Amino acid sequence: MRWTFIYYILLAVFLSNFSNAVIFKFSNVVCESYNKSWFLFHECRLKAVSREKVVLNINGTVLHSVNNVHTEGKVFKRESGFKPWLIESKVDACRFMRKNYNPVAKLVFGLFKEFTNINHTCPFVGPQIVRGFYLRPELLLLPFPSGEYMLSLRWLFDQKLQFDTNVSFLFIEDIKKA
Ligand SMILES: *[C@@H]1O[C@H](CO)[C@@H](O)[C@H](O)[C@H]1NC(C)=O
Ligand SMILES: *[C@@H]1O[C@H](CO)[C@@H](O)[C@H](O)[C@H]1NC(C)=O
Ligand SMILES: *[C@@H]1O[C@H](CO)[C@@H](O)[C@H](O)[C@H]1NC(C)=O
Ligand SMILES: *[C@@H]1O[C@H](CO)[C@@H](O)[C@H](O)[C@H]1NC(C)=O
Repeated sequence: MRWTFIYYILLAVFLSNFSNAVIFKFSNVVCESYNKSWFLFHECRLKAVSREKVVLNINGTVLHSVNNVHTEGKVFKRESGFKPWLIESKVDACRFMRKNYNPVAKLVFGLFKEFTNINHTCPFVGPQIVRGFYLRPELLLLPFPSGEYMLSLRWLFDQKLQFDTNVSFLFIEDIKKA
């Protein structure tokens, strides 16, 4: 009983240190529609709220209802230009929203699901909003090497590329050393 209590205290201390010693924030975002008769961006930008906190706002419109959505996700790490880095995954977004079947998508979605109205399965039509989304290291759970990364998401409707949302972020594990 007492040990359980001590364990929780240590865990809490560890977690608070972990999140204090980490920078995890957006550094860039690029959105582009390749078919403006199906998907329009009105807004796609970052706003620095404080030194540690940068929020992402995206406002787009799906102009005609869509029932077949796939997302090609790919992570790049910057080392004199962005190089592909470990994670690459194609997700059936309609199926994923019914049943969180893909663990990588689940991690990414878990970071922003409370900041968006994209919280249902197909069909998608009308405003697609992400508002006030910021990164929280405590949701990450698996530490990875410090650096700048880009998560490229390419969105396909009926198997045809419609738009990209490419987001870069910094992950710096030990601020004192950085
Ligand atoms: C987004 O990233 C992909 C790489 O996966 C790249 O091919 C594409 O040109 C980028 N899109 C934009 C709008 O920069
Ligand atoms: C562009 O969007 C229209 C719907 O407005 C769709 O019918 C057409 O197939 C799309 N074209 C491509 C190349 O995705
Ligand atoms: C999204 O953009 C549209 C078109 O500019 C605007 O009417 C709407 O109010 C915006 N929504 C949000 C939540 O910013
Ligand atoms: C989905 O998001 C909308 C807009 O933020 C919200 O009103 C609604 O309650 C959410 N639905 C679920 C099932 O979370």
